[in-house]
Amino acid sequence: MVDVILGLQFGDEGKGKIVDYFAKNYEVIARFQGGPNAGHTLYVDGKKIVLHQIPSGIFHLNKINLIGNGVVLDPMILKKECESVAAMGIDYRKNLFISQRAHLILPTHRAIDKASEASKGNDKIGSTLKGISPAYMDKTGRNGLRVGDILDKSFTTQYIRLRLKHQKLLENFSFNEDISAWEEEFFEGLEFLKSLQIVNGEYFINDKIQQGKKVLAEGAQGSMLDVDFGTFPFVTSSNTISAGVCSGLGIAPQKIKEILGVTKAYCTRVGSGPFPTELNDETGELLRKTGNEFGSTTGRPRRCGWIDLVALKFACMINGVTQLIMTKADVLDALDTLQVCNSYKIDNKEINEIPFQMSGMDITPVYQTFEGWNKDTTSVKSFEKLPSKMRLYINYLNETLKIPVKFISNGPGSDQLIVAS
Ligand code: GDP
Ligand code: IMO
Ligand code: MG
Repeated sequence: MVDVILGLQFGDEGKGKIVDYFAKNYEVIARFQGGPNAGHTLYVDGKKIVLHQIPSGIFHLNKINLIGNGVVLDPMILKKECESVAAMGIDYRKNLFISQRAHLILPTHRAIDKASEASKGNDKIGSTLKGISPAYMDKTGRNGLRVGDILDKSFTTQYIRLRLKHQKLLENFSFNEDISAWEEEFFEGLEFLKSLQIVNGEYFINDKIQQGKKVLAEGAQGSMLDVDFGTFPFVTSSNTISAGVCSGLGIAPQKIKEILGVTKAYCTRVGSGPFPTELNDETGELLRKTGNEFGSTTGRPRRCGWIDLVALKFACMINGVTQLIMTKADVLDALDTLQVCNSYKIDNKEINEIPFQMSGMDITPVYQTFEGWNKDTTSVKSFEKLPSKMRLYINYLNETLKIPVKFISNGPGSDQLIVAS
């Protein structure tokens, strides 16, 4: 049996904290897509840690953490991450497993990402520059190298062949930075990777499921960044939605049970692209400051705005969300009034669906206003003790999305999570 935790917005919904919280109920925690573009923040014994590729269950003793075939893996970043979790007393050599089918991010993938973004000028995607899109392009273009390949004698030849291909592309971009330091780190990373537990991920996970072990699939990014259903082309390059769990781990759809969708009580986006409910005013600034909305991977300020129920409904539909988790509810404590977007106005027509093309469109959100509760909720432990105005806000989401908000996160700490009644 497999449950899924994934983001319903533009990423950074607080998935890391939530996966860490629920990991105790599972035997296996698995990442199924994305790569080091992800930054999942957890607090372990009060200490902040940001994970990029290692699943967020790594701090729990005797849990299996699997990096699935759908992930694109940067060995250099993995080495650094492993060293930082080891410094916190974690035996990653015992608890971390990597699918041999996961594709590798090469130094030249990072260079192409950088060169491609620079060539786009004002139209840039705002990529994390981790080489995600070029690595997935090589996967679908059938050129990529996989973790299992590093165990093969011909790996260096294959690597050089692919690097030559990339160099031609880089010449077209007039990219001439020296990346030899990256390459050196990459090869160190590969040696390190060889020392880890590389497995046949799909048999590995299906065996566990067969044995009755519970699996938690951890999403990265968010549904509105999905390559098929997000705000294309301002998206990432993988399927971030629940369908990606099957192809990214090698499990059948009927094995999936609960799909827990994580949404902030408001909305943020980092990088370029449409964001109808964005606030370019002092309220947006207040959300950024109070919510400490700065990217976990790149440190960039996140764009902030109101919760968008048109997008959330869409995300619930394509994911088959069964339970909602609302994070960062405490960030709204400081606001006098709140707005919830129920529909969009485009060309004077009110619509309730996500349009095919959102970029360059004049979308006016239609809002419903709620009174703020103006109370510090960060130490509240039960739903009944939450301010009644906050409960009204939550109930409105329940009714509109027709999916229960089962948990409310009211602070970054691992103990700040309220079960809704
Ligand atoms: P992820 O990528 O979805 O795992 O989210 P990030 O870790 O990138 O960003 C979420 C940020 O919000 C992190 O700094 C978390 O520590 C923080 N956070 C998570 N839940 C809450 C919450 O309920 N309240 C507040 N104030 N911060 C939270
Ligand atoms: P987590 O897992 C927020 C955004 C980038 C950019 C776009 C494409 O922490 O929620 P990419 O590097 O993937 O080619 O960038 O996607 N992006 C994220 N935004 N959270 C993330 O991950 C993200 N991963 C990528 O900012 O707009
Ligand atoms: Mg993040």
